[in-house]
Amino acid sequence: MSIATPELRIDDRVKEFVAPPRKLLINGQWVESASGKTFPTFNPATGEILAHVAEGEKEDIDKAVHAARTAFDQGPWRQMTTSERGKLIWKLADLIEAHLEEFAQLETLDNGKPLTVARVADVPLAIDLFRYMAGWTTKLEGNTIPISVPFTPDAQYHAYTLREPVGVVGQIIPWNFPLLMAAWKLGPALAAGCTIVLKPAEQTPLSAIRLGELICEAGFPDGVVNIITGYGESAGGTLAAHPQVNKVAFTGSTEVGKLILNAASHDLKKVSLELGGKSPNIVCKDADLDIGIPGVASGIFFNHGQCCCAGSRLFVEKGIFDEVVDGVAQHAQHITIGPGLDPNTDMGPLVSDEQQQRVLGYLESGFSEGAEAVVGGKKVGEQGYFVEPTVLVNTKPDMKIIREEIFGPVVCAIPFQDVEEVIPAANDSIYGLASAVWTKDIGKAHRIAAAMRAGTVWINCYNIFDAALPFGGYKQSGWGREMGHAALDLYTEVKSVCAKLS
Ligand code: NAI
Ligand code: MG
Repeated sequence: MSIATPELRIDDRVKEFVAPPRKLLINGQWVESASGKTFPTFNPATGEILAHVAEGEKEDIDKAVHAARTAFDQGPWRQMTTSERGKLIWKLADLIEAHLEEFAQLETLDNGKPLTVARVADVPLAIDLFRYMAGWTTKLEGNTIPISVPFTPDAQYHAYTLREPVGVVGQIIPWNFPLLMAAWKLGPALAAGCTIVLKPAEQTPLSAIRLGELICEAGFPDGVVNIITGYGESAGGTLAAHPQVNKVAFTGSTEVGKLILNAASHDLKKVSLELGGKSPNIVCKDADLDIGIPGVASGIFFNHGQCCCAGSRLFVEKGIFDEVVDGVAQHAQHITIGPGLDPNTDMGPLVSDEQQQRVLGYLESGFSEGAEAVVGGKKVGEQGYFVEPTVLVNTKPDMKIIREEIFGPVVCAIPFQDVEEVIPAANDSIYGLASAVWTKDIGKAHRIAAAMRAGTVWINCYNIFDAALPFGGYKQSGWGREMGHAALDLYTEVKSVCAKLS
């Protein structure tokens, strides 16, 4: 590990954007919060205040939901043709693309991730997602359904289904991929014809606000997308419980997922949840380790381990355990840590002081229970929220570091005897978001894929995402799927229409 020397260059447009306090987007207007309060967002590479943002609370959520409700019930949005709707979403994608560098810099400043990563992953994936969803607007079809009604055998019926937008949607997103999470949520909701109140994470509100400006520029009707920055309980909690909201979509911790469910249960809103994970990454003896070792390393260290699908439990077949662990440890040692804006940086800071404390707390708990670090295990420097990429061994199945999501650059390596042993061990988790297997034996790969109780299985790869590929969790990793056409099911209702012909 080495610390990069900062060589920071920020675009003037980004400097201008972060200078004034940013406002809330309600009904097509940028407005201050009702209370006039703002809150700071920090640069995690330095711990310094980066910008101030309006603090939305109950009154602001009420106004935003009212705007979304009116836009859904009375506005021009529902009267637009599906083709017009698709063009608007496509135009938004074009606008993001035209501002790619600006978005990448905002993500890096607000979240800490390397600019080199934001440029090739976060922003392009968000653009792709909007384009993919733009194509769906014209393809949300119902069916004609032949029916035979036993108690009216002589009558004839014409029956069909319509797919309609679910209505006003509240969307609450996290800080690990701020723009991309906004895209995953907004894309399918807009394609389906819903109206939205989006609440970004308090740690990383900036790219969503900039996105809101482009939504206005693209020409979406007022009130279709409203953006309320604010804290979890006050803004998010009010949104999740709001009686005029038809559906809540949430990505974040499993703990808050359960709170969302409670809040939404009062009036039985539709709920979709994309929650935590503790994903198993299985390396078999017959794997190609030239791709396997770097694959495993990036499976945990990508985005500093702040991925819900991070491959945090590394199962390695006995016989190659030392080779794989040493290989991943060496990889960790070569990671350059530094501010995300530095072009030499491979790994930036964690998102916040709180997240750094959380990860260090897990490390401490692991060490106190007998786990050992082959590499890493400590924080880096006194400024910013850096943590060393860490490989832990000598863990036991009931340790907290094996059972709970760490959400940092920490992998626990566990040896296994054979496939029969590793499958139940890999599935031994309250989570079931992602998993991976590394082997040259195609039959074994697919047998393991079938046995994984997880929403995604990667074979000889990790962290491969595509707008067309559904993503979501089994067990306590959530309800529903993001991306692909599966995501549209979360934002549409099916209406059956039945007409008596004779
Ligand atoms: P969190 O679940 O508290 O925050 C996620 C979002 O939920 C934010 O927008 C937050 O403002 C909002 N929120 C918080 N409390 C709320 C409430 N009572 N009602 C409505 N909305 C609420 O996550 P946090 O505290 O930032 O991170 C804690 C842990 O959660 C992480 O260490 C990680 O394990 C997990 N996490 C998982 C993510 C994922 O992608 N599945 C993303 C972020 C965190
Ligand atoms: Mg929280």
